[in-house]
Amino acid sequence: MNSDVRDASQRSFGWQPEYPIHSAFAPQNKVTLYHGDCMEFLQSIPDESVQLVVTSPPYNIGKEYEAVLDLDTYVAQQRCVVEECVRVLKPKGSICWEVGNYVDNGAIIPLDILLYDCFRGNGLKLRNRIVWYFGHGLHCSKRFSGRYETINWFTKSDDYLFNLDAVRVPQKYPGKKHFKGPNRGKYSGNPKGKNPSDVWNIPNVKANHVEKTDHPCQFPVALVQRLVLSMTNEDDLVFDPYIGVGTTAVAAIINARRAAGSEIVKHYYDQAVDRVRRAFAGVLRIRSDRPVYEPPRSSRLTTSPW
Ligand SMILES: C[S@@+](CC[C@H](N)C(=O)[O-])C[C@H]1O[C@@H](n2cnc3c(N)ncnc32)[C@H](O)[C@@H]1O
Repeated sequence: MNSDVRDASQRSFGWQPEYPIHSAFAPQNKVTLYHGDCMEFLQSIPDESVQLVVTSPPYNIGKEYEAVLDLDTYVAQQRCVVEECVRVLKPKGSICWEVGNYVDNGAIIPLDILLYDCFRGNGLKLRNRIVWYFGHGLHCSKRFSGRYETINWFTKSDDYLFNLDAVRVPQKYPGKKHFKGPNRGKYSGNPKGKNPSDVWNIPNVKANHVEKTDHPCQFPVALVQRLVLSMTNEDDLVFDPYIGVGTTAVAAIINARRAAGSEIVKHYYDQAVDRVRRAFAGVLRIRSDRPVYEPPRSSRLTTSPW
């Protein structure tokens, strides 16, 4: 078995592989995937029932699934969706809004700056602006090539759930010791690992990535998984209003959380259903959250021909 498949199947879900995927929301559903507009779907979700909202909305840049709107209209639409997400969010819950740039005739407008007030105006507090760094993308000739987007993590209250231990990463120098003071000779790092910080180097889903579908801007599972593990407990509900090919639901269910989401394009919705089914069965290929591959310096690919 391929190691990426094994990563997913080793988990014990405690649910049947053929667990039903519901198309209408009910609080007891393990997974609800709605084909249609997120505002319609949100109306069926009760107040304060979601522990984590994680999403990447349309960026208003003319992808096949979006009409390009003037920016005020775009922000007004996003404000309505955010308001509804705040309504369904539990008091200890979190909203993670992942965005890049809107590009206007070569000038960039960072969407997190544009949308910040939609969250702040609803009383949410920004806890981190996580920089998601990735190595691949378009090559620009008139500005530096863009290689990051941001995950804007907001909470509804100061009493929010955050399980840091669930997402610690290995220490760089685990063998390092205090060299003076009362702890002299003892290891200085936390044996559980270090805080992953607010800069995450996780490959984006392009070309040969094992999770690639034909969606143009799919989340990597590892990225959503960090949010799920740190901001929810088992059986909590994770919601994505713009779920695309279902990555948020996959990250939730492989970690024994419940999931709900809406997708307006049937083709992507169908793929979301299929991926969730395969995740339940433990056969969906998933790249585990591990450091990015560094090719050996002596390889032909890394040796300059010049
Ligand atoms: C940036 S993509 C999200 C991709 C997703 N994170 C994934 O991993 O597949 C945004 C998605 O929102 C969908 N969408 C756009 N407007 C929508 C709406 N009003 N309601 C629900 N889905 C919508 C698009 O079709 C697109 O698949």
